Amino acid sequence: MVRVTVPIPGRSYDVVIGPGVIGELAEHLPELPHAVTAFVVADRSVSERWFEPLAIGLSERGLAPVLLTVPQGEDAKTLPVYGTLLHQLATQEAHRDDLVVALGGGAVGDLAGFVGSTYMRGMPFIQVPTTLTAQVDAAIGGKTAVNLPEGKNLVGTFAQPRLVLADVEILRTLPDRDYRSGLAEVAKYALTLDLELLAGLERDPGPVLTTQPEAMEDLVARCVAAKARTVAQDERDTGARLVLNYGHTLGHALERLEAFQGRSHGEAITIGMVFAAKLAEARGLASPGLAARSARLFRSLGLDTEGALPPADRVMAAFGLDKKYHGGVRFVLLEEVGNPVVVEDVPQEQVRRILEEMGAS
Ligand code: GLY
Repeated sequence: MVRVTVPIPGRSYDVVIGPGVIGELAEHLPELPHAVTAFVVADRSVSERWFEPLAIGLSERGLAPVLLTVPQGEDAKTLPVYGTLLHQLATQEAHRDDLVVALGGGAVGDLAGFVGSTYMRGMPFIQVPTTLTAQVDAAIGGKTAVNLPEGKNLVGTFAQPRLVLADVEILRTLPDRDYRSGLAEVAKYALTLDLELLAGLERDPGPVLTTQPEAMEDLVARCVAAKARTVAQDERDTGARLVLNYGHTLGHALERLEAFQGRSHGEAITIGMVFAAKLAEARGLASPGLAARSARLFRSLGLDTEGALPPADRVMAAFGLDKKYHGGVRFVLLEEVGNPVVVEDVPQEQVRRILEEMGAS
């Protein structure tokens, strides 16, 4: 078991990573004076597998576990589902001292975190991420959100959980596509922040691809440590944290334009990272070879680096709702691996050319 602290002044918390840690909740949950009920937000298939072990730990700590079921995936991250959860809390007389538990992937984590951080102006919540994407990224750092039809994550808060419990054993039960999708976020850390991780993945992705528990624990802990360092520097996403959006400008646009029915988040950001590497090369920021090296890494992790794209006009219009927008669209690009920068004033024509080169009409 590995413990990584997210050192945010006054709101530090631990991320506990290892096989079987879901069964150790009682041991790791911080003191919650006056909490009576734990409202566990999960979709049906996750709750069928993982609610019970979690409920045992909650009961051991004197909390009554109540399951609140939500739709699967991004369908949960909507204002109507958010509203329903608030009504459920109110009708069950939830109090500000009670606990919300996010049990699931990134979508459930964002939604439940948003509920926890807004019901009665905020109640304690913890994250129990069950996908690789959520364990290495979404559950850490306190971003909560729901989507609007107009764009992803357009409503939300910054609110830190009290604990994150990342059970790597759960990752072995994931469908292959979900797992590979999470490897895209892993590749993001490797390319932007952790050259040792990059070297290891380039040398031999085998242990990670075969989900060996030790390799998983090490992988998740490395990514969490990189994220914890970054979030501690810039909780509110105005500087260092923007780097964690590498590949996400195009990635989020694709998710939205495909209405979350096409590529998964990881598949979309993979295309986004290929685009970002090509753009960095085209601007003379990165030396030629970055895009090819990135694509080789993605392919070795089982991620597609090509595929149909929506028309360039629609993609570029979608960039206008990107969270990094700051008087104009900003892109996270690499000067070289391990050296990300935020770039403004990229000519539209250059963006269009690369999108078209990648297959957009
Ligand atoms: N997923 C990017 C961030 O948490 O900042």
